[in-house]
Parts: sequence; C-alpha cells; structure tokens
Amino acid sequence: SRLDHIRNFSIIAHIDHGKSTLSDRFIQVCGGLSDREMQAQVLDSMDIERERGITIKAQSVTLDYKARNGETYQLNFIDTPGHVDFSYEVSRSLSACEGALLVVDAAQGVEAQSVANCYTAIEQGLEVIPVLNKMDLPQADPDKVAQEIEDIIGLDATEAVRCSAKSGLNIEDVLEDLVARVPPPEGNIDGPLQALIIDSWFDPYLGVVSLIRVKNGSIKKGDKIRMKSTGRDHLVDGIGIFTPKMTATGELCTGEVGYMVGSIKEIHGAPVGDTIVSTKFPDVDALPGFQKVKPQVYAGLFPVSADDFESFRDALDKLSLNDASLFFEPESSDALGFGFRCGFLGMLHMEIIQERLEREYDLDLITTAPTVIYEVLTRRGDVLMVDNPSKLPDPGTIEEMREPIAECNILVPQEYLGNVITLCIEKRGVQIDMQYTGSQVALKYEIPMGEVVMDFFDRLKSASRGFASLDYSFTRFQASSLQRLDVLVNGERVDALATIMHTDSVRRRGAALTEKMKELIPRQMFDVAIQAAIGNQVVARTTVKALRKNVIAKCYGGDVSRKKKLLQKQKDGKKRMKQIGNVEIPQSAFLAVLRVD
Ligand code: GTP
Repeated sequence: SRLDHIRNFSIIAHIDHGKSTLSDRFIQVCGGLSDREMQAQVLDSMDIERERGITIKAQSVTLDYKARNGETYQLNFIDTPGHVDFSYEVSRSLSACEGALLVVDAAQGVEAQSVANCYTAIEQGLEVIPVLNKMDLPQADPDKVAQEIEDIIGLDATEAVRCSAKSGLNIEDVLEDLVARVPPPEGNIDGPLQALIIDSWFDPYLGVVSLIRVKNGSIKKGDKIRMKSTGRDHLVDGIGIFTPKMTATGELCTGEVGYMVGSIKEIHGAPVGDTIVSTKFPDVDALPGFQKVKPQVYAGLFPVSADDFESFRDALDKLSLNDASLFFEPESSDALGFGFRCGFLGMLHMEIIQERLEREYDLDLITTAPTVIYEVLTRRGDVLMVDNPSKLPDPGTIEEMREPIAECNILVPQEYLGNVITLCIEKRGVQIDMQYTGSQVALKYEIPMGEVVMDFFDRLKSASRGFASLDYSFTRFQASSLQRLDVLVNGERVDALATIMHTDSVRRRGAALTEKMKELIPRQMFDVAIQAAIGNQVVARTTVKALRKNVIAKCYGGDVSRKKKLLQKQKDGKKRMKQIGNVEIPQSAFLAVLRVD
C-alpha cells in the first residue's frame, strides 16, 4: 500500500557532527535540487543560521528515493536543531517521525546532547539508527566510537554504516538502512482527517504557513478544516511538500508530512501542537500536542526609540508563533522606558531572538542583563516568582529566597575530568554521580541554573579544549543565600542594571562589575561615578574621567574623511545607547555583568 513506501525520520546529531552536510547529500542522491540550486546547506534557510552555522528551526524535506530493491520510497526528513538551548524542538520534530538517524562524528565520539535526544526518541517509540560520519578523517576511530554508543546509550552500533557526508562515501547505504529499519507510518487512509501542526510561521504574503503531519485521512486543497484549539474553520488554500522548494501537490495523505496554507491571517490561528480536523468530522479527538517548555532566562528588551514600541510588540507576536518557548509581557523601567520582559530557553536563544528582531524587523533594542527566575517566600507567607531583580521585594520582608537548580549531564574525556570538576565546584555544583564509560566520563551534577545558563557552556568548552558536552534540565527550587546588587550611575540607581547574586560572590562581582563598566561607558564631558551597592551600602566604586577639551579639539581637527568617519562611528554607536540621566550608556555596559566571573 501507499503507507508501506513512506519513511518519516529525523536526524539526531550534535552540532558539527555533520547533520546538514549529510542531509544535503540525501537531497543530492535523490535529485531534489539541481547542482545550481544546491546552495551550501539548503536546509538552514535563515541568514542567522547560515552565519552561525547552526540549525535553529525544524524544517522538512520530502525526497523520492529509488532503493536497491527497485521500489521508490517517499522519505520525509524533518530537520532538528542541535544546540542545547533548543532540545524542546527536537521532541517536536520527533513526534512526526517513526525513526531517527543518530549521526556521530567518528573522530569525536558521543556528546551529552545527543544522548538526551536519543532517550527522547526511544521514549517516543522511534527506531534509532546509529551512523558513524566523517570516516574520511585520519583520526576517525569507528570501533571506539561504536563501543561508546553501546556503553553510553545502549544501542548496538557494530553494524552501523560508516560514512562520510563530505566525500559522499556510503551515503546510499545510510538510505538503504533507513528504508529497511524505519517502520512505515500507521494510520487509516480512509478515516476522518486528523493532522498535527509541527510548526507554524508567518509569511507576509501567505499568512500563516504550517508544517503538518497527517495522522489519519487526507487533506486536500479546497477542503474545509477546523482547528481544534481555536474552534475556527478555514478553507485550505494550498497543500504541498518541501523538495526542499515549496511545491504544491494539492493533497497530503495519511503518514505524509508537508505544508498547509489556510488563509489564516491572525497570528495565533494555527498554534504549534494543534490538531487539524475536517469540518465534516469535527468531533475527531485532538492529538496529544507538545509539552509546554518553560523559559529559563529572562531579560528586559527595550526599543532604543520609544516610537518603535508597537512594532516591537507586533514582531514579538510573530516570532512567538513558531517559538512557543518565547515568553513576553510589557514592562516599564525608570531608566529604559517601555519595553518587554522576555523569557528564553538559554543565552543562545536570547541572542538569536534579539538578532532576528533587529534584522528581520529592523528594530534597535537594548537588552538588560539576563537573570533566572527566583522563588521568594515573604514573611507574610506569600510565594512570589521574581523574573526581574528590580522587582525583588524589600529584603526586610523576605523570609527565604530560592534559586532554580539544574541537573547537568556532562560527558568529558578522562584527561579533562579534573578541569571540569573544578569548574563545577566553582559554579556551586554538587556531584550526584560519576561513571567511567570507555574513554569518556559521565558526570551528573546539580548546579544553580543561574550559573549554568550564563557562561557555563563556554567555560566547560574551554576547560576541555572543546571536548566536554552538556545537557541540562530544571529540577527544583532550593533555598539559597542571595542578594540584590544595585548599580548607581552618578548617584542614581539604575533599575535595569540590578542583578541577583549569591552572597559569597556579590562583593567580588560588584567590584569586578564597576571596573568592567568603567571600560565600557565612554568618557563624557564630566566625571561619571559608577557604584555597586547592596541595599544602602556601597560596596565598590569607579569613575569614568571626563574628556579633556583639547582631546576633542584634536579629534575634530583638519582631515575631512577622518571627521566623517568619526561622526559615522558616533551615529552607529548611538543606535545602541541609552540616555540615563545625562549619561549615555552603551548596550555592552548593560551586559557587563556577564563578563565578570
Ligand atoms: P548544526 O547545523 O550546527 O547542527 O551542524 P551540523 O551537525 O549540521 O554540521 P554540518 O553539516 O554543518 O557540519 C559541520 C562541519 O563538519 C562542517 O564544516 C562540515 O563541512 C564538516 N563535515 C560534515 N560531514 C563531514 C565528513 O563526513 N567529513 C569531514 N571531514 N567533515 C565533515
């Protein structure tokens, strides 16, 4: 039957293990694009993804593969992101698949994130097929890595295909393995429609476009459908697949994955995880959908120009359509005016959202220092969730402060174990478990989330020459000794610069912070005093000395092109500055706290 010739799969791979290169090879083997169209890494379509070389959004490609048995199979490949911040998207993509390829760099070995994603796949009932990539590299050690896959994940990898996405070695064997081992989809082709929305995004011309997986029945252009969550009816305007070009087919049947356009103009008209049914059979059950993920990092985002507030709101609305993890609510700051408090999965997620807002929506934004969310028990017995340090109640009214704790799974080669343990201790980590598996050590630590989400990942990488890997998740809130550190600029408390820190490090960090800010705040026509304070007690102080007049005179003297350059520089700099009282503070100074250990 038709279903027997469909295979839906994802690729689980750690960043840089070669997922994009391998998927490009699949497209090439199956003739999805001509050479001219075959841009480098076609799946990573967003500019930012291409520049940073990482995959952020899940996307799909439908390919026809003529197998060695003479039959042609429809392969639906759902892309997944590889970074630790985006693991929630992995489970979303996996829910549309019956199988997953676990791609492991044969020269690097297994990474913590892949382990976590494999477990998710196995829990969701998927067939996981290991593949050893980068066999062209001289340092590839497939036997060792196969053993590691077995030791750490528990998958037999002795028969795993050994390939090179770069040279093209054994790529067809990978596809053969897929066809042979991934089960075909199940479902009732003749039953009433039931389809899952895996992803939705806003297209300025088409309105909302959704990536869907048909579980039962079929969906055709011209059909009348109902969204289970909103109860609204829509006419299907377009149905098709990505080859990877958007290609209209007019119909998607049970087991298939593709796009649907339904003249849905309101942004939240087709939410991710929603179920699409036919208006003829509106009582068909909703599918389980997706677990809602909680943001771990919060920051205030403020438009540099107050006029941009409404377009900022609109942009956030559109971005949140295909990013259920993005949280935002209006916020006002004495220092920065009106903006939004936004919640993110991690620092990378925050950077990417800020970049997308600036590039795709042409906004200039100031971001305040990120923070985690704290649980505060007041003397009166109320429990408050505080996602903004400046909103912390008066210390005299607080009974107990609790910080979020992350359970961290780290894989590290033995020679870097000492460094990594030292780092975990410095970050207030508590060891839960340690196991030697082949040449890597599996560590389990509980570390305050506030320490993990900031620079822990980068520090871990530098402590292990890039070899350690990390996966983490929230476990619980735990009582801790925490204090708010305020920053005063020329005697004025700046709410947007407040941070919450552990008592043991607050003074040291306060001193380091004022030093750092002194470097970052440009000299002005007058002295600028920067103070760090806990309550009314100033714990550190620095001064940005005033510019001397003759310095300015010299800068502006003579040479026209130099003068122009200087003015241009000032103009560019202005974009990301905010006037606090009579002092101009650049974006970098708002994030200075990230740069003190
Ligand atoms: P993300 O999109 O960030 O998750 O990365 P990815 O897993 O998609 O990795 P990508 O395909 O971008 O490959 C990462 C790097 O490894 C690139 O520089 C590739 O050229 C290289 N690479 C991929 N496959 C191979 C291979 O088989 N051999 C060698 N030598 N290099 C490879």
